[in-house]
Amino acid sequence: MGKLMIDGGVPLSGEISVHGAKNSSLPLLAATLISAGRSVLHNCPQLSDVDTACRILEHLGCSVQREGDTVTVDSSEMSCSEIPESLMSEMRSSIVFLGAIAARLGTARVCFPGGCELGPRPIDLHLSALQQLGLEIQDDHGYLDCTVHGRLKGAKISLSFPSVGATENILLAACTAEGETVINNAASEPEIVDLANFLNSCGADIRGAGEQSILIRGVDELHSAEHWVIPDRIVAATYLSCAAATGGELFVRNCCPEHLDSVFPVLEEMGCKLIVGRDSIYIRAKSRLNPVKMVRTMPYPGFPTDAQPPIFTLAAIANGTSVFVENIFENRFKHVSELLKMGANIKVEGKVAVIQGVPVLSGANVRAYDLRAGAAMVVAGLAAHGRTTISDIQHIDRGYERIDRDLQQIGARISR
Ligand code: EPZ
Repeated sequence: MGKLMIDGGVPLSGEISVHGAKNSSLPLLAATLISAGRSVLHNCPQLSDVDTACRILEHLGCSVQREGDTVTVDSSEMSCSEIPESLMSEMRSSIVFLGAIAARLGTARVCFPGGCELGPRPIDLHLSALQQLGLEIQDDHGYLDCTVHGRLKGAKISLSFPSVGATENILLAACTAEGETVINNAASEPEIVDLANFLNSCGADIRGAGEQSILIRGVDELHSAEHWVIPDRIVAATYLSCAAATGGELFVRNCCPEHLDSVFPVLEEMGCKLIVGRDSIYIRAKSRLNPVKMVRTMPYPGFPTDAQPPIFTLAAIANGTSVFVENIFENRFKHVSELLKMGANIKVEGKVAVIQGVPVLSGANVRAYDLRAGAAMVVAGLAAHGRTTISDIQHIDRGYERIDRDLQQIGARISR
């Protein structure tokens, strides 16, 4: 339960490198279960959520080695099909192991997942899709007992919402199912494309990942493969926000700018100057940001919900009124109560927040309620005059590898 301490008001400048994507690494680690072999994932970030996923793999009988940013998983000895509650409750996205375990062993036992408090985190879309593929699911007092009679069978699945996790679970389960699977209204996030690319390099036959409809032709089995995880687009957006919040300038390296196409117009409307390279972004912020008329979070390629809390914080110090609408999660304004403690002027009504920018925030003792709300506190602390102490920073460490060290290197007065 560590704390971060920030003395704000210092314009940041320098360059920062972005680590591999958390939300790509997790399904990729689950995917290594499907083939009985030794897969290698490079650019795999050193995060607590990734550690949890590795511990799940080890619990299932795989051997996992990490050397720097490279994780090697040997799943040939995988024997267990149950994820204990202690591991399931640490991370909501552990549900994505269900499809992979069922595909490999024909049976799986998991409990309802835990993770960030972003409102109720249902998994109905995951379960109904897997049932359409032939997985029989019994609810045994909060545990899901799943079995496949024979082999999973391809199906035509239409998702009522383009759920990222449900799309990933279907891809993992359908790769070695009998026959064809079509996912309509699939999620199109870059992490979906990254997962499909890895699975195809393992011998799967997936077409259309990144579009609204994905076709998976089942193959008999997958083999292991080597893969480089894509850069984390939300970490890149967070660092851009840190520079914008302090009237600074920053060169963000090792990122995929095209994954942030919906974020750039918002930063430009707020008065930031951006120079976008092939794998880098340069940002120079104006001393007092403009407000942004309206930001609506949407499924990819719309404005990403994960970038909402950090960018929202910029609006709190902008020169006017901004409106944010959070359409993806029911409870993703946990950063507002903490921003109000720092002198922000914000009104929240359901999924709409109206932000009257104030000239300056004041340092305060605040909490990180979830991963991205915690990131918003870092952005706020860097902008605020005076000292901000952020507690419960274990939430931040789930998604940011070295946020204090990275920010120290570009001039921030931050310590753990
Ligand atoms: C993934 O979560 C990400 N997590 C989230 O990032 C991200 O915010 C989210 O996608 C949207 O982009 C990982 O990849 C590990 P969803 P996921 O299924 O898969 C509802 C972060 O900060 N829903 O697309 O859980 C759900 O309640 C995290 O890095 C159902 O109703 O997102 C939510 O309102 C936070 N039933 C909406 O869909 C279901 O069965 C989006 O959920 C599944 C989801």
